[in-house]
Amino acid sequence: MNTVRTELLGDDLAGLSRAAEILSAGGLVAMPTETVYGLAADARNDMAVARIFAAKGRPRFNPLIVHLADAETAQRYVVWSDMAQKLADAFWPGPLTLVLPLKPDAGLSPLVTAGLPSLAVRVPAHPLARSLLQRFGGPVAAPSANPSGRISPTKARHVLDGLSGKIEAVLNGGACPVGVESTIVGLTAEPTLLRPGGVAGEQIEAVLGQPLASPAQGAPISAPGQLNSHYAPGAKVRLNVTAPRDGEILLGFGAVDCALNLSATGDLTEAAANLFGHLHALDALDPDGIAISPIPDTGLGRAINDRLRRAAAPR
Ligand code: TXA
Ligand code: MG
Repeated sequence: MNTVRTELLGDDLAGLSRAAEILSAGGLVAMPTETVYGLAADARNDMAVARIFAAKGRPRFNPLIVHLADAETAQRYVVWSDMAQKLADAFWPGPLTLVLPLKPDAGLSPLVTAGLPSLAVRVPAHPLARSLLQRFGGPVAAPSANPSGRISPTKARHVLDGLSGKIEAVLNGGACPVGVESTIVGLTAEPTLLRPGGVAGEQIEAVLGQPLASPAQGAPISAPGQLNSHYAPGAKVRLNVTAPRDGEILLGFGAVDCALNLSATGDLTEAAANLFGHLHALDALDPDGIAISPIPDTGLGRAINDRLRRAAAPR
């Protein structure tokens, strides 16, 4: 990935409006939240979301949390419920993330949910995050702003140490007060504690008036197995193909003759941005098989190949 100059933005109006401008242009901004710094991008923009994975060097497309200004806005993207309302009333804005059914017409990049039919939503409490979300006015995907496998950042300095040259800006909000990630509660089936975090499970159980299931007993929709089956196209998938067989359609990469191309110029970020949409589009044609061009196993190519191997796995 090309190096960009990473701006350090102050916590004033100029800093906020610059951060919102960068998000609107499809750029990446590390924003302070009360838990940890998040690497923010417009959740509707495929290329911007693909760049999150590239900047973090994530070897997999795992689903991201979408950050919103308030609970009313969240309801545009997820199917709301009484339990969601109770938890939002009690803990939002704050370090709680709710996983709810994704609205089909939500208009988010499929990379945000890694193609899952559910979406993680959160309304952060940090004043700068709130101001940025209001100013930007759209849904913001934001994993922790650290390179994959490194410790989550709780200061602007940590973000710069890990991601300088890979993102457009860091909005400097000082130290994050909570310091651990948000608690994630799944509400697509029985209420389930998917990740412990800034709000204690006991507090959540008290508000719900019932115990939270643990992912082992409940159904962790983020579990690799489920991701697999959801993502597998109906058609048989064959990888590293240079010559498709009769009845197969080719999902290309680079300068090849194909039905759809992930990136004709061989750009891995563009290929990641197109991955889920193109797979769905080809699958909708109901071919005998989908053949896929070789994709280099470097940078974002690793995450793309990880996903494609699951799609091609026997089932
Ligand atoms: O405090 C936080 O939540 C921070 C700040 C930046 O908001 N964000 C954060 O994001 O921790 P990240 O990407 O590091 O963690 C997101 C977690 C992942 O473990 C992912 O599996 C889970 O959320 N997740 C996201 N969408 C999901 C879904 N639809 N179903 C189940 N789990 C989901
Ligand atoms: Mg993280």
